[in-house]
Amino acid sequence: MNQTNPLPEWTDDLSVNVEIIDEDHQAFFRLAALMNDVTSTPDNDQPYLIETSINILEEYIEGHFLREQKAMAKADYAYLVEHIAAHDAFADRVTRIIQDYRQTGSIEKIGTLAHLVTDWLNNHIRVVDAQYKGILTNANVDDRPLVYMAAGLDTELVS
Ligand SMILES: [Fe+2]
Repeated sequence: MNQTNPLPEWTDDLSVNVEIIDEDHQAFFRLAALMNDVTSTPDNDQPYLIETSINILEEYIEGHFLREQKAMAKADYAYLVEHIAAHDAFADRVTRIIQDYRQTGSIEKIGTLAHLVTDWLNNHIRVVDAQYKGILTNANVDDRPLVYMAAGLDTELVS
């Protein structure tokens, strides 16, 4: 298992020059650090803490991807389809790991999730998100909190 390896942290060079998206990305890194602690600390609270953190991860993934995708669609972004495919592929990988954990209770697999999140984000931000730099800006990205971005609450407060 590799969850005792130090996790990478968000650094300034990962900025995409959109404040709310940088905040989302930072939230993922913080959540991954929490998951890393939780999965490597066996105690009575561990199942509850794991379930809570994976619920938050699922919500972050849904909300953050929607935030980016809605903004890219609004901006007629040229690589929207490819970007959505990259998001979907990652979401599927995470879902499979979470399903495996919920079926088997295996800490081994769920313990890989924190590193998967930070490794994927590190690469995705530098390679894929970097392509929308200058196209997505503070002015054209919905900056409501992540929890409001989830599907059921996805209504514009102002038109
Ligand atoms: Fe993205």
